[in-house]
Amino acid sequence: MNLPKIHSVTKKIVVALLGGFLLLFVLFHATANLFILRHDEGAWYSAFCHFMGTNWIVKIFEIVLLGVFLLHILVTLWLVFTNRLARPVRYHHKPGTKTHSTSTLMALTGILIFAFLIMHFCQFYFVKLGWVKGEYMVETAKLQDPQISGIVNMSQQWGLTPEELIDELEQEASMRAEDTGEQDETAQYISELREKMAVMQIVARATEEGNITSDGKWLRHLTYDERQTLRKVMPESKPEPDFYYMCRNLFHNPLMVLLYLITFVALLLHMLHAFPSAFQTLGLANYTYAKAIDIIGKVYAWLIFIMFSAVPVLVYLGL
Ligand code: HEM
Repeated sequence: MNLPKIHSVTKKIVVALLGGFLLLFVLFHATANLFILRHDEGAWYSAFCHFMGTNWIVKIFEIVLLGVFLLHILVTLWLVFTNRLARPVRYHHKPGTKTHSTSTLMALTGILIFAFLIMHFCQFYFVKLGWVKGEYMVETAKLQDPQISGIVNMSQQWGLTPEELIDELEQEASMRAEDTGEQDETAQYISELREKMAVMQIVARATEEGNITSDGKWLRHLTYDERQTLRKVMPESKPEPDFYYMCRNLFHNPLMVLLYLITFVALLLHMLHAFPSAFQTLGLANYTYAKAIDIIGKVYAWLIFIMFSAVPVLVYLGL
């Protein structure tokens, strides 16, 4: 195979730069995740996710981020592959030597993190894209609708339920259609009202089950079918994934807590090596700073590990 000839040092620099970007991302992600620990009905975390889901700069950032993840993996594989091609006869490593175990460790932890990301995307990110079903929420203000309030007021005046009122209106319309021989615009109006009734039923269920936040701002625990109804009948209501409860529910499952913790250990080991190594590749770890970079790298990796781990562990413990 003819791969473009790029010096392996250049490839290492690219891997280091991409890795540096990812190191910053995990700090950002782990910090935001701490909002999940607040017992505020998800107010802070939902506000954060709402911003992440609606701001166009964030959308561009997400595409860049996914590109960086893929490039980081691809350039690393390319580096390993071309290095092996250049030296088909392997160096002799005494069993247990440091270089040998470090590269094996980086490969293993990298594979583990990649496998985790596939699972993680199926649990969260693909829900945002609408590829996987999840749990949803919608702003109550966005469900205000003149037709709905009209039908509620009218049904109260007539002493009927909204459904009975719509049946009544429909009967009258069909009698008029029989008399005149043609349908008037009421038929269209009634079919719109019936669709809006579905929205009212969603609100009624949420109210009955106490799924409205105490500040009255959000309607939560919506099912995928309810989300679909809202998107069809009231597209401007824009229901979004309820990541706060999805995360909290996920970490009631001990298997998930374990899988996440295994990944955090893999990430810790990956970062412990990656941090000083990236600085070295970029020529920033000279004799004077080497020790400081080593210490900062360790503190950084452990900090991320503790921040990430706190969420599944504390949620599982009911805290
Ligand atoms: C306690 C641990 C974690 C929780 C609760 C968590 C939760 C989430 C949630 C809810 C989302 C969707 C947010 C949105 O798109 O608005 C998300 C996205 C994402 N997560 Fe995590 N995550 C955790 C750990 C990790 C780890 C360890 C990594 C990487 C190694 C990671 C990488 C990503 C990526 C790349 C995305 C998609 C980009 C984005 O939307 O920001 N996550 N995570």
